[in-house]
Amino acid sequence: MSKASVVLGCFYGDEGKGRTTDYLAKFADVSVRASGGNNAGHTIVVNGVKFAMRLIPSGILSNKTIAVIGNGVVLNPEVLLGEIDMLKSNGIDVDKYLKISNKAHLIFPYHCNLDVMLENRRAHKIGTTKNGIGPAYCDKYERSGLRVEDMYKSNFEEVLRHIIKTKNEMLAASGEPTCDEEKIVSDYKSYAEKLKPYVCDTITFLHKCLKEDKFMVVEGAQATLLDIDFGSYPFVTSSNPTIGGILTGTGLAAKDIGDVYGVIKAYSSRVGEGPYVTELNDEIGDRIRELGHEYGTVTGRPRRCGWLDLVSLKYAIDLNGCNYINLNHLDTIGHFDTFKACIAYEVNGEQTTDFSTNEEFLENAKPVYKEFKGNFGDVASCKTFDELPEQAKEYIRYIEEYTGTFVKLIGTGADRENMIVREQ
Ligand code: IMO
Ligand code: MG
Repeated sequence: MSKASVVLGCFYGDEGKGRTTDYLAKFADVSVRASGGNNAGHTIVVNGVKFAMRLIPSGILSNKTIAVIGNGVVLNPEVLLGEIDMLKSNGIDVDKYLKISNKAHLIFPYHCNLDVMLENRRAHKIGTTKNGIGPAYCDKYERSGLRVEDMYKSNFEEVLRHIIKTKNEMLAASGEPTCDEEKIVSDYKSYAEKLKPYVCDTITFLHKCLKEDKFMVVEGAQATLLDIDFGSYPFVTSSNPTIGGILTGTGLAAKDIGDVYGVIKAYSSRVGEGPYVTELNDEIGDRIRELGHEYGTVTGRPRRCGWLDLVSLKYAIDLNGCNYINLNHLDTIGHFDTFKACIAYEVNGEQTTDFSTNEEFLENAKPVYKEFKGNFGDVASCKTFDELPEQAKEYIRYIEEYTGTFVKLIGTGADRENMIVREQ
């Protein structure tokens, strides 16, 4: 029986998780999404064509890997259908490879309206993606959510109309735009028909795949520090994008998990509000943003940028049990003559290497940096670790020593081919 490899973000998202899964998809029979929704944006470049993936695991781009949207995902059918069309028009055989969990919760337009309403009223804004993620998970846990399989029940229209009326009352009472009941009902009936061929019990399917010794990759979305329990609450997303969420979002058991890849960039970034110890609010931060094209895949929002934070990386690795690191954007950091990484925090005059998501701790933490030599030159053409310039190797070795974790994959450029794979 095979085990599933898992890919997880170690910082605040956008670490390049899609690249790791895309690499693993070369071998994968099945790739799976476990949590989140279309708040994710995973950019993958295949033969010069840029794909912005939101919901469908990027493994599907290999055109030979089954892509499963797991039960832990909150699914906006309109966005999903748009993604299906986009993939089909690029020659991907979606009908053959896509499977959607019957247990995934649905996002409706009122979730998006409520997301906007709640954000507008927050004293401390989170900077949500306004895709209705939080309100959809609220409904799931409050037990008024509708799941994919509910669309095929005979009372679907009746139940949906009742919920829309309730939500519209809430929106109207707050002076917010209400939703068009008739349009939602007719749209979702039509989405149900279009999605029907892909819907199945993915939990049973995934276990069958493991028993048949299929190679499985679970593609994380969001990231450790955005986790509702382990992230910088309340500046987080509404799910568990860490290892536990992989189990609850797919139905896999702990014993089914094999390799866990923690994904980072050679620097760091964050979108939305919240603490960020190594943020650079200066021209260096601006330079990282320009060199690394740090603008949202979907919204185009400029990302906050800074140096790599090894203190929080160690936390993410311990929390998720990562046995491999995938380091992306080595080429980007190599443009600097010198650059830094945070190796400890100074909090109230004392140094610590222990991370905490306590808000006060993070607000008071000052980064203690170690400087590294840059000027890596053209690393994109390097095919092995040995071919990398000595100063790049030094940086990678330092990360390994600090975290006790092997850097197996090294992203050296934007294209799919620009990835060094190391054997331990
Ligand atoms: P990927 O998978 C970066 C952030 C939002 C916001 C907070 C809550 O591409 O790494 P939400 O809409 O989820 O309620 O927003 O979480 N956020 C992300 N930031 N990458 C993501 O996904 C993110 N998904 C959510 O910016 O601060
Ligand atoms: Mg993204």
